[in-house]
Amino acid sequence: MRRTVVLAVDPEQPEPAAIARAAQVLRRGGLVAIPTETVYGLAANAFDPEAVRSIFRAKERPRHDPLIVHLASAEELPRVARHVPPEAQRLAEAFWPGPLTLLLPRAPQVPSEVTAGLDTVGVRVPSHAVARAVIAAAGVPVAAPSANRFGHTSPTTAQHVLHDLDGRIDLVLDAGPTTVGVESTVLDLTSDPPRVLRPGGVPVEALAQVLEREVPVGASAGPARAPGQLLRHYAPRARLELFEGTPEATLHAIADQARRHLQQGKRVGLLLADEDVAALGALEPQEQVLVRPVGSRRDLAEIARRLYAELRRLDTQGPDVILARTFGTEGLGLAIADRLRRAAEGRVTRVRT
Ligand code: TXA
Ligand code: MG
Repeated sequence: MRRTVVLAVDPEQPEPAAIARAAQVLRRGGLVAIPTETVYGLAANAFDPEAVRSIFRAKERPRHDPLIVHLASAEELPRVARHVPPEAQRLAEAFWPGPLTLLLPRAPQVPSEVTAGLDTVGVRVPSHAVARAVIAAAGVPVAAPSANRFGHTSPTTAQHVLHDLDGRIDLVLDAGPTTVGVESTVLDLTSDPPRVLRPGGVPVEALAQVLEREVPVGASAGPARAPGQLLRHYAPRARLELFEGTPEATLHAIADQARRHLQQGKRVGLLLADEDVAALGALEPQEQVLVRPVGSRRDLAEIARRLYAELRRLDTQGPDVILARTFGTEGLGLAIADRLRRAAEGRVTRVRT
């Protein structure tokens, strides 16, 4: 056990003393949870193989799941990438700092612990003022996965980080809840055409517009190119059942399924849009139903921002089963659907109208 120190920092104008302390911990090989605009990351000096190994230990993460390297600016790309293709430059100009991770050929000085032995490296420049200040002050690229135990829901607050990692890491910078709420989009630029391996904070449509071509989603056939994506992920404790389809039909199917579970004496959690909650009406027995609205259907950014926190909150209230729905696949809807599908581990009902 280590003692985990928590320092409150201003999300826009972080206190220099807190930043200096975090940078010092990183330079000495320690682990610091830092806020990014997507989720909290568990940071270590990317050039220190022992520090990187300790990330895997703290998270209980399998060694074959590679980490993203975070830079203070795009100018530092040559420190970690062997080659920076013109499309990477264009995307960096359009989306950095921000929630886009680019897979590029790995530079030899990046330890193989970071990339899980792959010849590519995932790189991004986060936009959160605290993350950028810490990386700049540390003076080294920072390897950082989401700051949760492996397989758990990603953390969007410092409290989530502590719930999973208290006593396992040195420092948490608490800058309040993150603003994007889902992880970065992972784009493989070593394949032609570039492919999205994980939908995230930058919509696929926006990538296609800048690249002026179609951007397929999902790994191509052949050896796994996104090892982490094959693994169980984002899972709550309760069994999650997911429903997809038009809003009205989906809500109907969820209400029917909720009644079936209630008749079997189960406690049911519902993760729904604000509009759904209004339309749902009462389910009996009411004390066995936990309802959590995640935001308006018309505001996918809000739903993305709140998704993980609402899922964690609902889960801690102890339902046997959580029923949830997707919000289409346009824009941020694709990342929201991706995370819910993983949490559902295949229990997805496509509702026909
Ligand atoms: O928004 C984010 O990306 C957050 C914040 C902290 O930056 N980080 C994050 O890291 O979500 P993590 O480790 O939880 O997810 C990164 C995923 C891995 O599971 C892996 O699939 C993929 O990115 N990845 C990273 N490097 C890769 C590589 N070289 N090849 C293929 N996939 C890679
Ligand atoms: Mg993660």
